[in-house]
Amino acid sequence: MASESKSLIDPFNRRIDYVRVSVTDRCNLRCFYCLPKDFKGFESREDYLSYEEIERILKAFTELGVRRIRLTGGEPLARRDLHRLVGKIAALPGAEDISLSTNAVLLSRHAAELYEAGVRRLNVSLDTLRPDRFREITGNGDLDQVLRGLEVARRTGFSPIKINMVAMKGVNDDEFIDMVEYCGERGFSLRFIETMPVGNTGRDAAQQYLDLSEVRERLDRHYSLTPSVMAGGGPARYFRVEGSDLHIGFITPISQHFCETCNRVRLSVDGVLYLCLGQDHSYPLKSLLRRGVSDEELKSAIVEALALKPERHEFREKPDQVVRFMSSTGG
Ligand code: 5AD
Ligand code: SF4
Repeated sequence: MASESKSLIDPFNRRIDYVRVSVTDRCNLRCFYCLPKDFKGFESREDYLSYEEIERILKAFTELGVRRIRLTGGEPLARRDLHRLVGKIAALPGAEDISLSTNAVLLSRHAAELYEAGVRRLNVSLDTLRPDRFREITGNGDLDQVLRGLEVARRTGFSPIKINMVAMKGVNDDEFIDMVEYCGERGFSLRFIETMPVGNTGRDAAQQYLDLSEVRERLDRHYSLTPSVMAGGGPARYFRVEGSDLHIGFITPISQHFCETCNRVRLSVDGVLYLCLGQDHSYPLKSLLRRGVSDEELKSAIVEALALKPERHEFREKPDQVVRFMSSTGG
């Protein structure tokens, strides 16, 4: 292998060591801020990257210094035999950390095979603990399946398990304390997220936008929070609840963006590399693969793509910018 670049550095001197891979843009839920109820614009299956193609792209990335890989969607467990892909990634010498973002609806069924294949870290999207509200937010999802999935995952040994809660005014802003208690009792971490204007659903959800400093204030009335760090914590700012092991993170893309420490790129299900969640800069890798490029050419293309990475998102300045849905690049 060419020895010149063991790390990917972008034009703003950020080291990119993390790739998020959307393995499907489909989902078994319809969270109102993510996907329109009657959405029909999914990629067709022949445009999906195969597991072999994903493996090949990730091999190139790991040879360029990427260490962490997250599988996301849509709902990644909606794609058949995901553990087969995990096994391939786990066999790549550079892939030190494989994680999964899921809505947990199918988790009880797949937890064991995913763990065996090499996933250790789980992020689970969960905005409410009330069954009726869960049905409203997710377009008729069954909360019980999610809670069972989480229980199975905990017993299987995944660690850490992080709950991602999108904090929304008038939707779930009376549940912050309940969610803290739920996570604390089970050894999960909890992260609050601000709604982002991604796709027209995300833009509509901006009406429910809640600055997380408000969440923080409410938690401060109940708990004593001290600043902490979490390994692999990404853009969240963490606090520990005093007297417990519970970590609470705040992900504030809108009120306090964290782009200067961005370390990631995103691969969509149809093989397009997106350089930023909040911008359209992209590079088509699938077409290269299907044209039969060599491994070295693929790596050069990735280096070239990295040069397109923008400095930051512009969610505030240009909220209409990102027309693709969150389900195509997985948050
Ligand atoms: N704003 C904020 N978070 C979102 N997610 C999906 N759409 C949005 C949005 N518009 C979250 C999901 C999940 C993660 C992948 O992204 O709730 O936790
Ligand atoms: Fe599915 Fe996640 Fe989008 Fe909800 S937020 S519809 S669980 S992809």
